[in-house]
Amino acid sequence: MPPRGHALWLDCDTGLDDALALLFACRCSDAELRGVSTVAGNCALDAATENTLRILELAGAGRIPVHPGAAAPLVAGIPHAREVHGIDGLGGLAGQLPAARGRPRPEPAAVALVKALRAHPGRLSVVATGPLTNLALAQAIAPDVPGLARQLVVMGGAVGVPGNVGPASEFNLSADPEAAAAVLAAPWPIVQVGLDVTLQVRLGETEAAALEATPTGPGRAVPLFCATALRAYAAAYRRQDGDGRAPMHDPLAVAVALNPSLVRAAQLPAAVETAGALTRGMLVADRRVLARPDLLAGRRTIQCCLDVDAPAARSWLLTTWGAPPGA
Ligand code: RIB
Ligand code: CA
Repeated sequence: MPPRGHALWLDCDTGLDDALALLFACRCSDAELRGVSTVAGNCALDAATENTLRILELAGAGRIPVHPGAAAPLVAGIPHAREVHGIDGLGGLAGQLPAARGRPRPEPAAVALVKALRAHPGRLSVVATGPLTNLALAQAIAPDVPGLARQLVVMGGAVGVPGNVGPASEFNLSADPEAAAAVLAAPWPIVQVGLDVTLQVRLGETEAAALEATPTGPGRAVPLFCATALRAYAAAYRRQDGDGRAPMHDPLAVAVALNPSLVRAAQLPAAVETAGALTRGMLVADRRVLARPDLLAGRRTIQCCLDVDAPAARSWLLTTWGAPPGA
């Protein structure tokens, strides 16, 4: 069956913003979500997998295959983000979701990713919104797959802004630095969607209220869940940094995969630090090349997102989740 839109595969550690990203991908008419793989990160692997199944059920997309992946980083990582996503990964909301009729597929994430990329050479965009362990395992068992992806959008890192789990370290890359370093060293066509842009797209009570204003009817369940998830995520950030609005890290990564005109990006040499006592997990992107193109000579680069049209991203996310136009 020809895809109705941009073929996507999400690899996620289904926490609150991953859930919002999944719902965006399921409801966006530009997207064709082909499969999901799960990884431990925000929460344990089993919770991330169960959350994914329930979110897909909520979206009426329970037929989409879900492949559990890595329960731990390749070498060492950091604790689950319970202070933000709670023990269940969804801020205590998991129990409010309909039970999933689907079950996890027996094929592990790395194998399923390899098969999907080989089946659709050049046509599948992978969006990674958790630690990169599954991607690292996929390229280890099949070194040909990085060259088969249409793009690999990585929600992770920080180029010119502070980290969120350390002075320079962002959660997804710090949760498995060895995997992140291996993936960035492989020839994936990487688009890096980091804190430089995701922290500019923050939603809170205004947007939650707009989602609740959606007309009564069967399609109301998704916008209502999005409103509740937004409030839970925003409350966690209020506790952390006093800003009562939650950054749309993972939903923005999916939006950028579908519409790169939302961001301004630059091709930068980049790698992930794995040995630094203070900087382990840091994305080291060489912005000197912006003024000194001669420094690019022979170096692999990735697309690093440096700025975003935040109002456009906000509006697209809200209307796709079900808020009335103009919210
Ligand atoms: O740093 C933000 C990232 O870490 C997001 O993907 C969030 O879900 C957490 O996984
Ligand atoms: Ca995530």
